[in-house]
Amino acid sequence: MGVMYYKRFRMELDLRKLVAPKWDLPAGYSLVSWQEDLLWDHAEVKYHSFRTESDANVFPCLGDRQGCLSLMSEISRKESFLPGATWLARYDTSHSRKWEYCGTIQGIQDAGIGSIQNLGVIPEHRNQRLGTFLLFKSLAAFRDYGLLRAQLEVTARNAGAIRLYERIGFTKLRAVYKIVEVSHA
Ligand SMILES: CC(C)(COP(=O)(O)OP(=O)(O)OC[C@H]1O[C@@H](n2cnc3c(N)ncnc32)[C@H](O)[C@@H]1OP(=O)(O)O)[C@@H](O)C(=O)NCCC(=O)NCCS
Repeated sequence: MGVMYYKRFRMELDLRKLVAPKWDLPAGYSLVSWQEDLLWDHAEVKYHSFRTESDANVFPCLGDRQGCLSLMSEISRKESFLPGATWLARYDTSHSRKWEYCGTIQGIQDAGIGSIQNLGVIPEHRNQRLGTFLLFKSLAAFRDYGLLRAQLEVTARNAGAIRLYERIGFTKLRAVYKIVEVSHA
């Protein structure tokens, strides 16, 4: 057994400076608020968003279907869980009456600070600002809960996610290191 150190940034946002996106969701997309019977759907979207990403090495549960279900269940049972800051993105095709969930975000409250958990958009639906919308929705809910600050952690190599967070107003607070046990073949 050995260990790997993954550098991550803790980022912070002053919720009083939160500005709404100046555009609408693309056609066919909508956001769905948390209900307990959506737990499985959040877990599935989480799994499909993270399973091939480097964060699945940092948090192996993200690369595993059952792991995502357990994680989602654990988050939603926390006393600090904020249902209003927890959203799914949904895509409806106008012609075939098919629909699917394609993005997820969850929020909890940690010592009076809103904490973003696992923002994920499944690959086929990326680059349409869904991630930005989900994040904004969750942050606006933090503000409505009366919180003044939001925080999140992101793996330092995840440049795309960092750009998204910086565009919405997050700044890097400090670097933290996640230690992950690895077995050598
Ligand atoms: C990070 C993640 C959530 C972003 O989701 P997304 O829906 O693609 O995000 P957005 O569309 O809001 O923004 C992404 C990019 O698309 C661009 N974009 C979005 N809509 C656009 C449009 N209409 N025209 C031009 N560019 C657009 C954004 O400017 C941004 O560009 P960038 O490459 O410079 O960052 C997604 O990539 C993901 O799930 N990754 C894997 C999981 C992960 O790492 N999550 C973060 C954990 S901390």
